[in-house]
Amino acid sequence: MMGIRIVGLGKKLPEMCLTNDEIATMVDTSDEWIKTRTGIEKRRVSVTETTHQLATQAALEALKESGLEAEEIDLVIVATVSPDTNMPSTASLVARNIGAVKARCFDLSAACSGFIFASEVAISMMKQSHYKNVLVIGAEVLSTRLDWSDRGTCVIFGDGAGAVIYQQSTEINQIHCIEIGTDPEGAELILLPTQTEKNKFYEGEIKRPVISMNGRQVYAFSTTKVPESIKQVVDKSGLAVEEIDWFILHQANSRIMDSVARKLNVPKERFIKNIAEYGNTSAASIPMALYDARKQLKPGDKIILSGFGAGLTWGTMLLEW
Ligand code: COA
Repeated sequence: MMGIRIVGLGKKLPEMCLTNDEIATMVDTSDEWIKTRTGIEKRRVSVTETTHQLATQAALEALKESGLEAEEIDLVIVATVSPDTNMPSTASLVARNIGAVKARCFDLSAACSGFIFASEVAISMMKQSHYKNVLVIGAEVLSTRLDWSDRGTCVIFGDGAGAVIYQQSTEINQIHCIEIGTDPEGAELILLPTQTEKNKFYEGEIKRPVISMNGRQVYAFSTTKVPESIKQVVDKSGLAVEEIDWFILHQANSRIMDSVARKLNVPKERFIKNIAEYGNTSAASIPMALYDARKQLKPGDKIILSGFGAGLTWGTMLLEW
């Protein structure tokens, strides 16, 4: 049977760090409010780094760890809602930068579930089309899509990139189960319009496209759907929730992770958190958190990765370290 293993991980952050106190000089908020409501203490903000540059650096690190040559990469998928360009895809730019000259490339938009959706697509394509080495990246520069006068959103998001290389294996299978889903009824609860939604014939006001969000409804959705999705994947894998060693959730809000832990009846110490450092980096958050977690992962550990966000989308996968 063909299995899939992870052979490389990479992460890249922009240089600039913005603390809650610094944001509190810009909008009516406080370090205390942000920390207690979200768990966020600071975030990285890109001043010069672009989405494809962050993605490229994360990819290069993953490639180095894998020991592969760039020409051996068969497919590059970048999950992002903040590409530098709609054409070409971020994936094409990354492939060009790293020298992945044989790779098929495309971007995937599933917001904060993007990494799990991209992993599902990558693994299905690996199984059906026999692509051997696949690079999946989550990369975002959300700071350029924020209304820095909206305290409901500007305190939450951050920039960064995380990369994973999946490889076919006849001996090892690390990916046991993936489940993804969408509830289109909630499609407009988190919005980010495209850059050019009006043309020259439009006579109304043209607004800068920024993220807007119904925080309370998104909170309710996440704390309901994520435990359900995790239970479904764990059940399908023939395991019990207690047998899962680590939970790596999309880093949207520390309270969401604590609520999911309570609903699953799992100690919250098993939930990996780097949200204090980086905020919500959308599609980048899960691969970045996996990267940060790996020093504490042991071979054989069972890990749940679970993303959720705009769409509304969600996705969970079970992997064995
Ligand atoms: N600083 C201070 N006060 C703030 C604030 C901020 N940054 N943002 C909102 N507030 C205020 C609101 O204006 C409101 O004031 P009011 O009661 O006078 O109207 C009050 O705080 C409570 O607002 P509410 O939206 O109910 O807060 P909350 O406890 O739900 O926390 C979020 C807001 C956004 C942190 C929370 O809803 C959340 O995390 N939701 C999920 C969002 C998310 O994860 N999105 C990404 C999914 S991928």
